[in-house]
Amino acid sequence: MRQSSLVVVANRLPIDDSVAPDGACEWRRSPGGLVSALHTLLSHTPTTWVGWAGGTGPAPALADVDGVRMQSVPLNAEDLRDHYEGFSNATLWPLYHDSVEQPEYHRRWWEAYQRVNQRFAEAIAEVAEHGAVVWVQDYHLHLVPGLLRELRPDLHIGFFLHVPFPPPELFMQLPRRAELLRGMLGADLVGFQRAQAAHNFAQLVAKVLDLPATDRRIAVDDRVVRIGAFPVSIDTAEMAALAARPDVADRARRLRHDLGSPDQVILSVDRMDYTKGIEQRLKAYSELLAGGHVKVRDTVLVQVAVPSRERVGQYQILRERVEREVGRINGEFGRVGEPAIHYLTQPFDRAELAALYRVADVMAVTPLRDGMNLVAKEYVAARVDDTGALLLSEFAGAAAELSQAYLVNPHDLEGLKQGLLTALRAGPDDVGARMRAMRAHLHEHDIRAWARSYLSALDESGSLLHRLGATT
Ligand code: ADP
Ligand code: F6P
Repeated sequence: MRQSSLVVVANRLPIDDSVAPDGACEWRRSPGGLVSALHTLLSHTPTTWVGWAGGTGPAPALADVDGVRMQSVPLNAEDLRDHYEGFSNATLWPLYHDSVEQPEYHRRWWEAYQRVNQRFAEAIAEVAEHGAVVWVQDYHLHLVPGLLRELRPDLHIGFFLHVPFPPPELFMQLPRRAELLRGMLGADLVGFQRAQAAHNFAQLVAKVLDLPATDRRIAVDDRVVRIGAFPVSIDTAEMAALAARPDVADRARRLRHDLGSPDQVILSVDRMDYTKGIEQRLKAYSELLAGGHVKVRDTVLVQVAVPSRERVGQYQILRERVEREVGRINGEFGRVGEPAIHYLTQPFDRAELAALYRVADVMAVTPLRDGMNLVAKEYVAARVDDTGALLLSEFAGAAAELSQAYLVNPHDLEGLKQGLLTALRAGPDDVGARMRAMRAHLHEHDIRAWARSYLSALDESGSLLHRLGATT
């Protein structure tokens, strides 16, 4: 087994399987940017990514992606049901998102969660060289830092949570709360999207485990675990370059024409998830149509909602409700050849997505709760001519950075309607000033800066990045 000095660990490998024109199955890099960020930052560091390749078959052998080795961890049908769909996405996911849907607690799910976390820890222990840096991502793998430390005390272990970390009054519901917190404390550095999440974590550790904790440091046995906020970002330059391509500009022009050349296009791009506020947004739009504030001929809404976690009951119910509502709104307000909502559930390639961002005069990103929301950042990066209004939920992590967006509370229907109208009616000077400021922020704070700031924080002594051969 080849070993690496940097090991990135996530539930999923950063690749998608796709069917080539000749019918063969091939793997390609999925968007998200972390692989390319690590590649530019640490191009000479032997790096392995450990994760699930999807499906329930044996772990496939995979080729390297941008110089990063892919090490797959297999899940069987029971693991998929109880670890991924169960404990990760029907217990932790709703609990961490303000319990906007009721979290479910089942002892069998917890057993699967422990089992799969143990399998990941063992896979990492095999591929990490002595003294390697291991960077564990997200809520599917809370126990991995603790389990890994037992197997390999020589490693430098980081943990980063991409989703919100809830306040104590919510987290305290979790039957196995102490085990989860202890698992995270196996890391040397625990990172969150926002300072509030780090604060919640410190409070919980003090309360549940009775350990001395501040928002920056926690003493555990003979070690100190550091905690902090590291807001994740995107490959800003890559999205900007894509959006500026002449063929993408052409696609955007064609799209506007195909949409009936309306005065204004509102766009939303979400995973089909109850945290994204899709139903609330549709209601606001429908009331604006009913009140005559918005006319179908002048303004269209494009709602992209890619199905997600389709075997989880709450996701099936949401999809049915959204599709019924889209049908109702189109039936009531659309005309022949002029739907009120263009509803799309397909995945798009990056160029098509960039063209959609270019065509959107208003981008409505209104989740009820979101760790960050990369779509909001991608939209800003794609508006290379400093036009376009971003309507953004106060409850998205991105709102802490993109404070020049038109901010709304998506739970407040009247506020949401008003926010949409304000964004639609904003003058070019206001829109331009806001967009310029947000683009400047993302230019500095891209995914490369995120990876660098996390890894340097993991490396208090300052020698780690140097040892890994980071470029400046
Ligand atoms: P989440 O991680 O909850 O899905 P984010 O907004 O943070 O939400 O990230 C979603 C990612 O998925 C973005 O990079 C976005 O570009 C991508 N994405 C969303 N919808 C589509 C789609 N229809 N086709 C391709 N990529 C999509
Ligand atoms: O942002 C949270 C997250 O779970 C990511 O880890 C993941 O890439 C995305 O949502 C999509 O979810 P899933 O892996 O369940 O399809």
